[in-house]
Amino acid sequence: MRAIKDMSVLITGGGSGIGAGCAELFVEGGAKVTITGRRLDKVTEVANRIGPACHAVAGDVTVEADRERMVAAAVAHGGKLDVLINNAGSMYRQAVGAYTEEFLKDAFNTNVISGMMLASRALPHLVTSQGAIIFVGSTHTRRAFPGASPYATTKAAVEGLTRVMAAELGPQQVRVNCVLPGAVSTELNLRAGLFNSEEAAARYKAVAGLHALGRIGTARELAEAIEFLSRAEWVTGVALEVDGGIGLGVSNF
Ligand SMILES: NC(=O)c1ccc[n+]([C@@H]2O[C@H](COP(=O)([O-])OP(=O)(O)OC[C@H]3O[C@@H](n4cnc5c(N)ncnc54)[C@H](OP(=O)(O)O)[C@@H]3O)[C@@H](O)[C@H]2O)c1
Repeated sequence: MRAIKDMSVLITGGGSGIGAGCAELFVEGGAKVTITGRRLDKVTEVANRIGPACHAVAGDVTVEADRERMVAAAVAHGGKLDVLINNAGSMYRQAVGAYTEEFLKDAFNTNVISGMMLASRALPHLVTSQGAIIFVGSTHTRRAFPGASPYATTKAAVEGLTRVMAAELGPQQVRVNCVLPGAVSTELNLRAGLFNSEEAAARYKAVAGLHALGRIGTARELAEAIEFLSRAEWVTGVALEVDGGIGLGVSNF
């Protein structure tokens, strides 16, 4: 297993939720972490809380100039780049009969194309470090939630590209994996308007029962799995379900 200490890690969407949890865990292990997000106040607040090993860069992963800046900032902060965590993403729900092309393109741009482009930009650095790329997929490819086809489709794409990228980059000793989280209480569903903060506890309580372990997960538990994938030197092309068993589709019928 590769050591976390002195790793240079770029985490997109590090100003909240799973990305912020990753930043905390990697810095605790001695890594130099660069976090990004569009909201400067969010990434700055997380970096200030974690300390000087965590560097905040505001930017939009859908903008090429911003992606270039993110990679350059991570290389400058950590002196190299060992791990790219493509975590930034949004929930996209739209009923089949109400599809709009603009919405679907936005979903793919944010959840799929941005991570592919970042991987491309980061690749020379990852080849040098024999590093790793980790995508964040979703249990939405294991369980069907009506209305969430745009989101589920982007996450299916993430799983597919993980396998091909792993095959393509393996000879250069760059590993590519993804995690498939179950439900975690973050800003994701609130920002998509699925429910408001007053309703959140009841909604998460309801979804907890779909998980074999009877509860939703934490950002920390996702970070632990992502940390494993960043260190495990003979693991590539894997879609790791970190989901409390929701993906099993447990039914007590
Ligand atoms: N929470 C869950 O239950 C769950 C389950 C399965 C998968 N996931 C996946 O986990 C990942 C992290 O989500 P989360 O749950 O931690 O939700 P979150 O708290 O909403 O985090 C998502 C982060 O992505 C950033 N982001 C979104 N669009 C961006 C853009 N265009 N450019 C730069 N940053 C962008 C957001 O920051 P800004 O808005 O400031 O840019 C935000 O900090 C996502 O890929 C999500 O699909 C979450």
